[in-house]
Order: sequence, then C-alpha cells, then structure tokens
Amino acid sequence: MTQEFDALLDQARRDVTAAADARALDALRVELLGKKGRITELLKRLGTLQGEERKAYGERVNTLKEAVAAAIESRAAALAEQELHARLQSEAIDVTLPGRGEPTGGLHPITRTIQRICNLFGELGFETVEGPEVEDDFHNFNALNIPEAHPARAMQDTFYVMNGARLLRTHTSPVQIRTMQARKPPIRIICPGRVYRCDSDRTHSPMFHQVEGLYVAERVTFADLKYDLHTFLSRFFERDVEALFRPSYFPFVEPGADVHMRWAQADGSSRWLELLGCGMVHPKVFEAVGIDPERYTGYAFGMGVERMAMLRYGVDDLRLFFNNDLRFLEQFK
Ligand code: PHE
Repeated sequence: MTQEFDALLDQARRDVTAAADARALDALRVELLGKKGRITELLKRLGTLQGEERKAYGERVNTLKEAVAAAIESRAAALAEQELHARLQSEAIDVTLPGRGEPTGGLHPITRTIQRICNLFGELGFETVEGPEVEDDFHNFNALNIPEAHPARAMQDTFYVMNGARLLRTHTSPVQIRTMQARKPPIRIICPGRVYRCDSDRTHSPMFHQVEGLYVAERVTFADLKYDLHTFLSRFFERDVEALFRPSYFPFVEPGADVHMRWAQADGSSRWLELLGCGMVHPKVFEAVGIDPERYTGYAFGMGVERMAMLRYGVDDLRLFFNNDLRFLEQFK
C-alpha cells in the first residue's frame, strides 16, 4: 500500500512539473483530485475499512492528497510567474531609443526670395500690393502704352483665355495700373506675383514670378531709381554691387534701362549680368490712369524672382524650382 502511494505521488509530481501551461495543469488537477480523480477514488476505499486500519489509511490518503495539491499549487504559481514575465518582456518599451521626430517643413526658395525682396524694399518705404493673375487687355497692355497691333506685344508670348477676352498676365506691370487707378500719389509699392508666358527652356518656364516696383510722387528722378536699386541690390547680395544702367526699350517707361551687375567668374574675370528692367513712368501711362504728368513723375522696375534666386543660391537650372524634388528643396529650409 505504501509503495502504491509513493509511486502515485512520484508520478503525480513528474506530471505536474511537466504541465506546460495552466490548461494542462488544470486537466491534471481534475484527473487527480476531481470528483472521479484517482486520489478521490482512493478515499472511497475508506468505507470498506474499520477502526485503527481505517484511521491509519485515512491519514495517509490525506497526506498524499495534500502533497499532490501542494505540488499543483506551486506549479500554478510558477506558471503564473512565467506568464507575467513573458508579458512584461513582450510589452516592454525601450525608453532609451531615440525619438522618430516630426520633419519640419520649410518655405520654398522662391517664396523665401519674394519675402526677402519685399522686406528689403519695405525698409526703403515700399508697401507690398498684389493684383489678379487673370487680366484684361487694358491693364496688361493698353494702359501700359502697348496698343493693339503694336510690335511690342510680340515681345511677350501671351496665353489668352475666354476667346481672347482675358489673358494670363505676362508681367506684374498691370498692378501698377490698378494701384494708380485706385490711389493718389505719393505711391510707393512693390508687387510680387506669378506671371505667364508661352516660353520654356533651361532659363524660362511658362509660369514664373516677378516683383514690380513703382514710385510716383512730385520730383521723382532717375537718380532716385539708381539709388534705390543700387541699395536694394547691395542688400540682396550682401556686398557692394557694381550696377550698370544700359538704355533699353519698354513702351511704358521713358527713358528705359536694363540693369546689369558685375558678376565674378570662376577664372577671376567678371562679366555684366542682366538683372531687371526699369525706367521713368511714361506720360502716356499717367494719362491712362488719370494722373497729371506735369505735376508727377515716377519710376518703375520689374525683376524676375527665379533669376534673383538662381544668382543668390547658385542654381543653374530654373526648372529645379518647379520639379518639387525634396532633395533640392530641403537645402533651403
Ligand atoms: N514689365 C517688364 C517685363 O516684364 C519689366 C519692367 C517693369 C520694365 C517696369 C520696366 C519697368 O519685361
């Protein structure tokens, strides 16, 4: 009898230790201690015994039962611990890992250049004004002394829309007209914006940006124009720029000029680079907007933003600004 109990306890301990999880252990508990379990069956034999024998047998079965229950309990505790450990491991967060971060956006180099130009002219007393990109013939051409059939129209390959009733402005000069129609001198404005020409190559794109400048007051002279542009260019390029004003033709100014700046070459020499157009507002433009050309004079200029950005940043292909390749754009953040 003792041998039978010892063998049973041994086997039970081995099985309990081998139980891989709570379910296997529970099955064992039922098999050993359940209503029809092996140890419960042993207890039933009590009914066939009497007196001392019955008492001794009862004690031994109880001892066996307690030993098996203790083994199951300790295995259950070990399994619970194992499970907790595994969960902690799988849910662990490494707080020492570097953060993933949020990439910060940046302004497009053309936007930055426009802001820079407007800020520098702001320091010279110019107010930023904008106008529509879809224009009519009057504001884009006629009021600027470019009548219909005038050969100067061929200088700008125009995108007409609405069967020719409107056009995409070919320059920012119509903002001059709109402002002079709406205000009385003195007027000192800077007008950034998109312009459109049927043109496309390494240095021209069908859409590009210009900044227009206009200063109208009593006794504005070409000297004011030269001084203001020279001051602006020197601040923009952060050095004392050598500027050259070379006579040029624009129907809405007289006299008109192209401004060139001396540009250092890699081989140590230098050459003149054309930067922008300018001149004194033509009396016919004043007449078109109802300003007295005997009392007021003014200057105007227009510059290409992409060109200014290319020179400042050393970019050699204008199309890079519009391809939206982040590897290019991120360099200007
Ligand atoms: N509007 C001219 C152009 O786009 C530039 C310009 C503006 C020239 C003002 C003179 C004065 O070519």
